[in-house]
Amino acid sequence: MIQFNDLKQIDLSHTKVVITGANNGLGFETARYFAINGAQVFMTSRSEEKGKAAILKIKEETPNAKLVLMSLDLASIKSIENFSREMHKNKTKIDILINNAGIMAVPYALTEDGYESQIGVNHLGHFRLTALLWDLLSDKARIVNLSSMAHKQGSLNFTNFMYEKGGYSSFGSYSRSKLSNLVYTIALGRRVTFSGSHIVVVAAHPGVAKTGLFDTGKRSKFIQFFINLFLASVSSAEDGAKPTIMAALDPQAISGNFYGPDKKTMVKLDTPKRIALSKQAQDDLWAYSVDITKVTYPF
Ligand SMILES: NC(=O)c1ccc[n+]([C@@H]2O[C@H](COP(=O)([O-])OP(=O)(O)OC[C@H]3O[C@@H](n4cnc5c(N)ncnc54)[C@H](OP(=O)(O)O)[C@@H]3O)[C@@H](O)[C@H]2O)c1
Repeated sequence: MIQFNDLKQIDLSHTKVVITGANNGLGFETARYFAINGAQVFMTSRSEEKGKAAILKIKEETPNAKLVLMSLDLASIKSIENFSREMHKNKTKIDILINNAGIMAVPYALTEDGYESQIGVNHLGHFRLTALLWDLLSDKARIVNLSSMAHKQGSLNFTNFMYEKGGYSSFGSYSRSKLSNLVYTIALGRRVTFSGSHIVVVAAHPGVAKTGLFDTGKRSKFIQFFINLFLASVSSAEDGAKPTIMAALDPQAISGNFYGPDKKTMVKLDTPKRIALSKQAQDDLWAYSVDITKVTYPF
């Protein structure tokens, strides 16, 4: 694999990138990198105010940055469909789609359409989004899905996938959603490769990076104190975004690659938990996700 710093040599001046959840944390740092290096970046945000603030911040550093703010709430089918319509209106060809947005370990809640929120936003929202944008992807497009090492704690129980029968665990659902991101990556990559397409589908995780993911504002001061202590020793959002950036730009990438952080080389290839490599798990998740979302992919 090439070195992270060598990515700077890649000409991005004709590259169009879509990043979900780009107003904060890793998504923001990823958008910032692409903007500095000349790509056109479609930054999605569910809040117009936060989105505008993020664009302003990047423009302060890179006044000629090519940034487009787009509204997208992955907890709403209507919003995902509106976003897709906007992208289709402009017939924008997408070279890199980064499915980054996410929520972590939140109390039980449903999305606008009745999905458990973490599975709904982190997995099903991106599953739907990617299907709707499919015809806009360029021939050699790259899709990057954000997973997490928390996928290792995840399980796929399709009889109670969204905790319809109870037993909700906020971390259990988060790790299930992150395992789903990885299983989906491999399942989609397999299908794409089999279809003869040159689109490459990969996953990334940041290790642990200090981002908005850790401030839900709903914790006791006692717990937050320990979280703050822990956060003092973890990576910055800028470093945390490096595996995502490498996943998006690695010229030798093949579908199914899983990029993670490394102290020496900044980014390395990681190994998914065994279940993620299981064809049965991939097919089951695929069938479940199609059944719930009713979206179609062209293979
Ligand atoms: N930070 C870590 O250590 C870590 C570790 C492993 C994996 N990850 C993964 O990295 C990704 C990025 O997280 P982060 O750490 O950068 O956290 P973050 O700073 O909280 O950023 C998350 C982004 O997702 C957006 N988002 C949340 N709910 C959304 C929704 N319903 N629709 C659209 N966008 C929504 C947020 O928007 P708002 O600002 O409006 O909330 C924000 O822009 C996530 O997928 C996460 O699971 C992070």
